[in-house]
Amino acid sequence: MQFMEIRDTTLAYQSRGEGDLAVFLHGFPLDHRLWLDQLDSLSDLRHNVAPDLRGSGSSDPLVSGLLAMEEIADDVAELIAGLDHQSADVVSLSMGGYAALALWERHPERIRSLVLMDTRSGADSEAGRAGRRETAERVAEEGSGFLTENLMKALLAPDAGLAARIRLRSMIEGTAAETIVAHLEGMARRADRTDLLSSITVPTVVIVGEDDGLTPPDLAEHMANLIPAAELVVIPGAGHLTPIETPEAVNKALREFWEKL
Ligand code: MLT
Repeated sequence: MQFMEIRDTTLAYQSRGEGDLAVFLHGFPLDHRLWLDQLDSLSDLRHNVAPDLRGSGSSDPLVSGLLAMEEIADDVAELIAGLDHQSADVVSLSMGGYAALALWERHPERIRSLVLMDTRSGADSEAGRAGRRETAERVAEEGSGFLTENLMKALLAPDAGLAARIRLRSMIEGTAAETIVAHLEGMARRADRTDLLSSITVPTVVIVGEDDGLTPPDLAEHMANLIPAAELVVIPGAGHLTPIETPEAVNKALREFWEKL
């Protein structure tokens, strides 16, 4: 791992390859290991950098009970600048996608192209917000063990392979309870950025697992329709975590997209 002081914290990141920069933003409650297959397989095309977002993995622990998507976006903008690049090909999954849309809103000059994977542009419903706060309270009281079991079922397609299961469990178990609570509150408070989609002028691909129950293909299609010139890629046999469930299909989609830029 490498480390960079960013704003008031230190972010850890994994890096492979050289050339134009690609930055990979992981989902909740995960870390840079979501992207290990992409970092390696695409290292001939890009300088691939996958940070542990604030509070995750080997990055500094959080000191606040709220991690706003805007905070993550500001960190990513500084990371790109700190790596001596004007902009990056931004690849994001789920919560990483919420942050990527905040990055487009706040620092569009930092995005050269965009991949939105297994994510949504809308905000939480009232019921969704209440559910996140209930989960956060339970995690604060009893730890995140119960959440691990729930997420193992919710995030993966039913027949996901052993390697994907092991990697997912290890990422969830490696995420501090404080971080889980802060990310849940940050996601609960996030803005609806659907109106922003029509302003996305950089080349964009929306990727979704065919069996993604959390951010299903119809949502992905809706987003792709609202983004001028976005392509949609639906990956058969994958749930919400396409990069670890079907790495070859994701790598192929990214390679084809980047080769055209
Ligand atoms: C994620 O994968 O980042 C989460 O499922 C996103 C969410 O809970 O909305």
